[in-house]
Parts: sequence; structure tokens; C-alpha cells
Amino acid sequence: MAAIKITDRIYSVGVQNPDLEVFDIVMATEFGTSYNSYIVKGEDKTALVETSHADFFDEYKSNITSVTDPAKIDYIIVNHTEPDHSGALAALTELCPKAQILATAVGANYLKNITNRSDLGVRPVKDGEELDLGGVTLKFVVAPLLHWPDSMMTYCKEEKALFSCDFLGAHYSFAPMLDTELKDTEGYRRAFKEYFDAIFGPFKPFVVAGLAKISALDIEYVCNSHGPVLTSAGQLGYAVAEYGKMSRIVKNDPKKIPVFYCSAYGCTAALAEKIREGVLSVLPTAECKTYDIIKHDLSVLAAQLNSSNAFAIGSPTLNADAVPPVWNLIASVDAINIKKRPAAVFGSYGWSGEAVPAIVARLTALKLNVVGEGLKACFVPGDADLSKAFELGALLAQSIA
Ligand code: FEO
Repeated sequence: MAAIKITDRIYSVGVQNPDLEVFDIVMATEFGTSYNSYIVKGEDKTALVETSHADFFDEYKSNITSVTDPAKIDYIIVNHTEPDHSGALAALTELCPKAQILATAVGANYLKNITNRSDLGVRPVKDGEELDLGGVTLKFVVAPLLHWPDSMMTYCKEEKALFSCDFLGAHYSFAPMLDTELKDTEGYRRAFKEYFDAIFGPFKPFVVAGLAKISALDIEYVCNSHGPVLTSAGQLGYAVAEYGKMSRIVKNDPKKIPVFYCSAYGCTAALAEKIREGVLSVLPTAECKTYDIIKHDLSVLAAQLNSSNAFAIGSPTLNADAVPPVWNLIASVDAINIKKRPAAVFGSYGWSGEAVPAIVARLTALKLNVVGEGLKACFVPGDADLSKAFELGALLAQSIA
């Protein structure tokens, strides 16, 4: 991909990776992605905003060189240090020997470990600080946890452009870069939403704060770090409105207490049903359904779990452990946002019953509030076991009543 002129003074010099199938180990990328980077040319100084993925350095270097002599770059602005954007930094310091690196104070610290150079010179910038390039000004908008502790955005008032970092991005490889060229708007919007869910879903309060921070800015271009540049003539209005909608935190009414389980012979299922009855004995209007984990889509169950007020999870013991579908669901726990969420653990077992204590230990490590003791029932639950399951359900409901 060649460099692309975005405005008179802004050039896109990032790289496309249309073949990427999975980002960061867990996120499927139907449309690949891009690692966006921009050059801003002032009358006196030149800045490179964001770097790129280390694996694409040769193409990246070629794009930069087609716009300016890298040796003449005065500043490298790192809005966010995750390696998809900072991976090329170490090599860039050789290519741009006089460039001063700018990042937030947190980012400056991270960069020393990312480049493994304790002597790396990084100038920390503050929220609202401005950088004069000569006829063009860059203003730093610090935005912690959008989506990393080091995150910031950079605004150029003369070009009405916001370099928004991952914010308002999408894993959508699109070589023309400007969203006015998009043909598959539906596909792009799907990628945009999936990106929000995966990257910003856990940080909704910070998304709200980020939207508030940029609301007073006059913006015609959002030069993000992944996917097409958003323009006021294209997807910008849609993207900002969707972020507003998607970051809204909805309170459950009635309260949601799902009961998840796996069960080979109906024993753990019987405990799940009694837990459900126990929940409803305390909160009759609660939405309390049982879910056999292997009969449902994992992402649907994960959404149920993470949006619940409390939940129960049960597993039989197999090979001295909980069964894999239960672990897969627990791996989807949004540990950042559901700390202290009440949870009950249960399961039938035949020989030794390690599943329940193993799940209790895992949920405790994730800082959830495991109520009661994990309930274990040997082989087929008898009346006493079922009574304990009912009581555990009631206790779980009482924890949020
Ligand atoms: Fe695209 Fe958070 O890195």
C-alpha cells in the first residue's frame, strides 16, 4: 500500500494486513486489519503519529519515505503503546535519529520495556499540552483506559483531525483509507461493532468519558489506528452515535441470575434446577434460567454471564477437574467489570470431586464474590443435596436482594 493524502498536511503511511484472521489471540478478524500511522507536516516541523506493527516494517518505511525523508521527522507521537502500534518504534529510532518520542507518562514507562531500552528518551506529555509544528498545532488529549492505562488521543485543530488511537477504530483492512470510498458499509459496520465489543466493551465508563472529551472538538476526520479514516461526509456521525449507544450501561430490571451447568447424566442438572428454585423463592420476579452450556453458543452465554447481577455455575468432575466447556465459559468472564459479582458453584461427582473447589478457586482469583461454600453432591443428588442446592440458590439471591 502506498501513502495516501488525507488532508493538505496529513498523510496516511500505515500498512494493511488483509489476511489477518485472529487479532490478539482471541478476536476473529473477518476483514483483516490495518496498522494506521500518519505524518503531519507543519511549516517547521514534521510529526509521525503512531508507529506500526514490527512485522511490516519494510512496507511501513517505504510509505514514510514516500512522504518525507525519515531523518527529518522531528517527533514520533505514540498515542498508545500496545505492540501493534509500537512494535516498529525501536527500528524507527534508527531511521529517524533526531525524532523526539512523545507519549503519556504511563506510556513512556511502558515503552522502555517494549523496546527493552532503559535509555530510550521519551518526553511525557500532559493532557491539553500543545505542540506547534508551524501553522499546525497538535494538542494531546489524555484518555486513560481507553483502552490501556497509557492511552491518549491527539487533535489537530487546523486540519480538524483527531488521531484517536484505537478509539472509533475497526479491524477492517481498507487500502483506500477514506471511508467515503467504502462499498461494503454493512460489513464495515459489523466489524466496527465487533471491535467495540472486544476492545472497548470492558471499558464503557471510559468510553463515555472519551466521548465527552472530544465532544467540544471540531472534527472532520478521525484518523484512528485500525480501519478506514472516518470523515464527516462518511461514517463519522454513525460511529460516534453508535459508541454513545453501545457504551450505555443498562440496569437489569428484573434482575438476572443465570444458572450455567454441564451434566452428563442429569445429576449436576438436577442441582441447577434446585438452585433456580431457590433463587426464585427469594426473588420471584428475577430472570433466572438454567443453561446447559454445551447446548448454547459460548458468546451468548458469556454475554448472559457478564450482564448478570449474580450467577451460578456447575460442573461434574472429569479427570480430577471441571469439564472444558465450563472452563471456556469462565475464560469469558469480564474480570475488569464484574469484580465482586456474586457467584455460586456446584457440581455432582463420582470419585473425588475436584471440579467445585477448582472453580471456586478460579472465581475467587478473578475477585468475584463466591457465596456460600461450593456445593458438591456425590453421584445422584439425594433429598439432602437438593435441599442444599435450594438453599444455595436462596443465598445467591439474598446477596443481591
Ligand atoms: Fe490496536 Fe490497543 O492496540
